[in-house]
Amino acid sequence: MNGFRRRLAVALLTLGASNAVWSQNVPAGDAVNGKRVYLVAGCYTCHGRAGQGGAMNYPAPALAQTQLPVEALKAFVRAGPNDMPAYVESQLSDKDVADIHAFLRSLPGRLPAKNIPLLNQ
Ligand code: HEC
Repeated sequence: MNGFRRRLAVALLTLGASNAVWSQNVPAGDAVNGKRVYLVAGCYTCHGRAGQGGAMNYPAPALAQTQLPVEALKAFVRAGPNDMPAYVESQLSDKDVADIHAFLRSLPGRLPAKNIPLLNQ
């Protein structure tokens, strides 16, 4: 766990009980707008169009099927750790981040080889 992740984890834990209340205030994301914003904001240039991740100076993690709660996704987007740019609210609103979250959750992610016909001939 690098320094940023440790600080993020501590921050999220410190938020504790209020976190649950906060989550309920986040509007359910709109995956269609999330896809649009994900492309316009350029997330795909590093994380891939299918959220499959990619190789930069430092690997950009896969985001499809993210297990991060929306608040943690937002924390990453606002902080821009290491090779990732930070996005301020005027560039990417909280709603847009919630929509990106919904889009990432809607992506299938990696399929097991047995589900890919070409690999089962
Ligand atoms: C220039 C390349 C680049 C762009 C553009 C970019 N990212 Fe990243 N992103 C990264 C890299 C590299 C990391 C890994 C940072 C680390 O952990 O040190 C990362 C990490 C993340 C993480 C943490 C994932 C995890 O599980 O650790 C999230 C979430 C994320 N990015 C979302 C986004 C979103 C949403 C956008 C668009 C608004 C975006 N990123 C744009 C390069 C990028």
